[in-house]
Amino acid sequence: MTTRIFNFGAGPAVLPEPVLSEAQRDLMALPGVGMSVLEISHRSKVFDEIIQGCEADIRKLAAIPSGYHVLFLQGGASLQFSMVPMNLLPAGGKADYIVTGSWSKKAVKEAQTVGSVNVAATTEEDNFSRVPEPSEIRLDPEAAYVHFTTNNTIFGTEWRAEPAVGGVPLIADASSDIFSRPIDVSRYGLIYAGAQKNLGPSGVTLVILREDLLARSPKNLPTMLDYNTHAKEKSLYNTPPVFGIYVMRLTMKWLLDQGGLDAVGRHNEKKAGLLYDAIDGSGGFYRPHAKPGSRSNMNVTLRLPSEELEKRFVSESKAAGFDGLKGHRSVGGIRASLYNAFPLSGVESLVSFMKEFQRRSG
Ligand SMILES: Cc1ncc(COP(=O)(O)O)c(C=O)c1O
Repeated sequence: MTTRIFNFGAGPAVLPEPVLSEAQRDLMALPGVGMSVLEISHRSKVFDEIIQGCEADIRKLAAIPSGYHVLFLQGGASLQFSMVPMNLLPAGGKADYIVTGSWSKKAVKEAQTVGSVNVAATTEEDNFSRVPEPSEIRLDPEAAYVHFTTNNTIFGTEWRAEPAVGGVPLIADASSDIFSRPIDVSRYGLIYAGAQKNLGPSGVTLVILREDLLARSPKNLPTMLDYNTHAKEKSLYNTPPVFGIYVMRLTMKWLLDQGGLDAVGRHNEKKAGLLYDAIDGSGGFYRPHAKPGSRSNMNVTLRLPSEELEKRFVSESKAAGFDGLKGHRSVGGIRASLYNAFPLSGVESLVSFMKEFQRRSG
């Protein structure tokens, strides 16, 4: 029996154990099929059941209203940085971007190759330690859309509620907190997420897109970059990432088995709360990067009194059976990613380790 450790990595990240077990059990041959999911045609009945089942479970989980397409694409969230403006930003038009971290900046960079971008707000001056207050956001009522990043994986900040955008379509990069809590899809024009944090393995990107926006795509787009292609062909225009969709299907079932997004959201709140309480109760030894009100339940970022202690924390945490705690270089320190599949017992173990580390080093 292989021993699993507590994986705090930011992505690709921990997946639910029942999902891994089922995928492992059925990898040689899907029950009643005699072939692996890796070996069957994407046009077979068996795969139809997988992709349609995955879509149905996503619709159920997030209560997606009618009038939205659910697409399984490739190219990661990063390709969506380009596809969103290529499809939705008309020639001569402009788009609002709210900049809350490195990923938003990358989205801006790609949109600028297509058209005019208005940075409606940025918290870069505060090293992205918070998301903006509503009063700081300067939206352009004529914008084609407003783009924001729901959770900032690197900096450890997360929006508590969507920015108010009136009638302008709201576009979200939800890569690192999708389905970690309830979501009101009707507030969005388009939601996209690379799968490798809360949905499954890397290689598949989920896009939830409001039907009316399809009319915006210019006629001269390359076929594969046009949302219409994938909406019309139900993500089967070409060979889709079959294994990613299969694992996503298992993960969606697991999320429903957990009680759906309300229950998952409560559990995530509890896990992150335990860690933030430990940080806040450390008498300043552990310092959170994110400001209260912007703290992420998915990625908890913190600093220690010195870089030397941070290095020791990382190496000793490895010896204690944890992985992935080293922070991103733009923040430094420690980052603990607590995605849906990360267990409460792992947070409890980390908190004990932190107390013990502080006792020895403080
Ligand atoms: C918020 C966010 N957006 C976009 C990306 C890029 O995703 P991908 O690697 O799927 O292109 C990441 C990756 O970590 C992310 O965290």
